Amino acid sequence: MGICLATTSGKGGTGKSTISCGLALAFSKLNKSVLLVDMDEGLRCLDLLLGVDEKIVFDLSDILNGTAIEDGIYSLPSNSHINVIPAPSSIGNISFEALAEFANKVKSSYDVVIFDFPAGLDFSLYSAIGDDVQFLTVCNPDPVSVRDATAVCASLPKTALDPRLIINRFDAEYIKKKIYNNIDDIIDISGFRLIGIVPQSKELMLLSVTHKTPTKSKAFKALYRIAKRLNGENVRLPKIKKI
Ligand SMILES: Nc1ncnc2c1ncn2[C@@H]1O[C@H](COP(=O)(O)OP(=O)(O)O)[C@@H](O)[C@H]1O
Ligand SMILES: [Mg+2]
Repeated sequence: MGICLATTSGKGGTGKSTISCGLALAFSKLNKSVLLVDMDEGLRCLDLLLGVDEKIVFDLSDILNGTAIEDGIYSLPSNSHINVIPAPSSIGNISFEALAEFANKVKSSYDVVIFDFPAGLDFSLYSAIGDDVQFLTVCNPDPVSVRDATAVCASLPKTALDPRLIINRFDAEYIKKKIYNNIDDIIDISGFRLIGIVPQSKELMLLSVTHKTPTKSKAFKALYRIAKRLNGENVRLPKIKKI
């Protein structure tokens, strides 16, 4: 069976969509076929981050209303392992039953399916994806974001399979100077098990402009370690100052 991931966060802007794209790029380096499903109705962005925005004709709402799945999938010209389904351009177009049927079909066609959800504590659509979904909550190291992750942890569906935390936009200086909590405290406060730490990164920040896999960057190396862990490999966390 493949890997099925869903991003979550309390507040928006923690980096869920950026991390989803980065993980897709990392999984493709592991020779996995990846489908990214943009669930952010009305606020889609994965197409723009990956540079397929000008090709879009159909989106997820069309597929859920009967358009063939293949017609709404856009592959990256530079990397055919990575495929994107854009979110509907307006809200209220995703029905639970249609999503459940769609999720069931695509999970058997790709090695990895990543559902990139909007922020918030409404998990009503998550259970349509199935019980095999691995939740990835993305938080930043600041206290507001960590508090939001705690709220997500308390609110996730009880069926959730070992939900994990990704700390994104990490900067060791802030911890060294004791401005932010250290990693152990963030884990304790949030209530999650950690799966990885992604540093603050100019390359990731510029993804929507460059559309390039920043393979040499520390951020991509961190995403690659997370992809390997999700793939069942035992990969150690580097020393904090090397992240
Ligand atoms: N590791 C990172 N380093 C630098 N900028 C980042 C990083 N992760 C995300 N960003 C930036 O943060 C902003 C919000 O990211 P986005 O992925 O859209 O968040 P979300 O999907 O959670 O709303 C974007 O401008 C993005 O470029
Ligand atoms: Mg997003």
